Amino acid sequence: MTASDAPRAVVVGSGIAGLLTALHAVEHGCRVTLVTKDVLEHANTRFAQGGIAGVMFDDDRAEDHVHDTLVAGAGIGDEAAVRVLVDEGPDRIRELIALGVAFDLDASGGFVKGLEAAHSYPRILHAGGDATGTAIERALVARLRASAVTVVEHAFLVDLVVTHGRVAGVELLVGESDTVPGRRETLAADAVILATGGAGELYAHSTNPEVATGDGIAAAIRAGAAVRDLEFYQFHPTVLAAGDSFLVSEAVRGEGATLVDEHGRRFAFDAHPDGELAPRDIVARAIAHQMEEQDGRPVFLDATHLHSADAGERAAFLSRRFPTIDAVVRERGLDWAREPIPVKPAAHFLMGGVATDLHGRTTLPGLYAVGETARTGVHGANRLASNSLLEGAVFGARAGDAIAADAASGAWPVLTLAPAPPSVPPAEPTAPASDAPPFSRSALQHLMWEDAGLVRDEAGLGHAASLIASWRAQARAPRSEHDHEDENLLLVAEQAVAAARARRSSVGAHFRSDDAAGAAAAPHQEEAVAC
Ligand code: SIN
Repeated sequence: MTASDAPRAVVVGSGIAGLLTALHAVEHGCRVTLVTKDVLEHANTRFAQGGIAGVMFDDDRAEDHVHDTLVAGAGIGDEAAVRVLVDEGPDRIRELIALGVAFDLDASGGFVKGLEAAHSYPRILHAGGDATGTAIERALVARLRASAVTVVEHAFLVDLVVTHGRVAGVELLVGESDTVPGRRETLAADAVILATGGAGELYAHSTNPEVATGDGIAAAIRAGAAVRDLEFYQFHPTVLAAGDSFLVSEAVRGEGATLVDEHGRRFAFDAHPDGELAPRDIVARAIAHQMEEQDGRPVFLDATHLHSADAGERAAFLSRRFPTIDAVVRERGLDWAREPIPVKPAAHFLMGGVATDLHGRTTLPGLYAVGETARTGVHGANRLASNSLLEGAVFGARAGDAIAADAASGAWPVLTLAPAPPSVPPAEPTAPASDAPPFSRSALQHLMWEDAGLVRDEAGLGHAASLIASWRAQARAPRSEHDHEDENLLLVAEQAVAAARARRSSVGAHFRSDDAAGAAAAPHQEEAVAC
């Protein structure tokens, strides 16, 4: 293969999945361009706090990590995909270390073991205490900049170019700023890899940065690629309920912090025998229920008994173990060594996405998806803590490896799927009710939070479907990047709501209060949360 006939790959997105895809593809001789709508470092990866899960200790067992992942996923994860995740995870973690990620070590030079909810073993590695994502993003970006990958920042994915039934490139909006409109550019490619993350901007309360607008998923839908499981949106149990939503890692509960109501009573055991360390969907709904009982006021995360009876020593421990959280908590005037801090749930992670096989291939030739953009099946209906960085690393590397092989074979294999389950067609646009709000991103986020959030029912989902349909019908042709993001959010919202209407029974993060059997199995979790 000469340089000029090497396959051209365009990776869209710069989190762990996109960066590892690019580094692997370039290693195999592909000509790789990585485009990102912001700067390289501004991906969701850098906000990951808790760490990366992997079977890295002699007394841990792959079988247990597989089991924990499937149980947290409410039993509907794809076991073959989970086995790949778990079996290849340790090699990818060692690769991250080789690429410069310094996971925290204890005094004897071994990895510090972190525990998070629904893990039967403390198998989470972290870096910088609670700055794991930042450490990974920095190391991978440095490697990327030193590699042969061409980087184009401030380049927004407008659409995929589809020619003769295959993806043949990307249409971009490049260089837009507050004062300068972007210019349209087309980049031809043999393979396009979507690594644009999730869609946290769908919700009024989210742990995600503003860049998480579902751009890759929306472009894939418009191009005709299959998506799956968009009804499965994970809500993280604890963001700080003082100021803007700020993630308070599950690792804090892993260290022993408890959840208490406004009278100081621990309530998580009402919902599950594992209490605060039950699967994330269950803890998030338990908090939502408790908030409902308290007229919408937040619950509290209590770390005042951790580490030492001496508050000064405890404060030193918290700032050492959780430096990022500690700084923000203190900045907001709270002293978590001495008092419980207010917390509430917020949208965190999309389990569904563009359907892929075990190598990131989608149903469209030439199109791949990795990381949160993809639906690999590993998360089922609820992701296990700290499996997201792992998924990005394992399946990003696999996609990067597959592209060169697929190009060499000339076959460009695709994912073949069983027919989709019957779905509810998107609602017909109806004349909006006289009191219906006009479209704004904030109106969409509040609608999704109220009607397609932690707890759903047909009445709310139907209301969301018709309002979204009328907003889509009235939308003008997008011009700016912000317009395109809105268009993407509306499309993903429409499909997520349709999927949630089609799945009439509760499972994992998709909890329907009008599913009598599901509500009976999970008592006291039927109310929506007001935040
Ligand atoms: C957290 O640190 O609680 C978030 C990590 C994750 O989403 O797995």
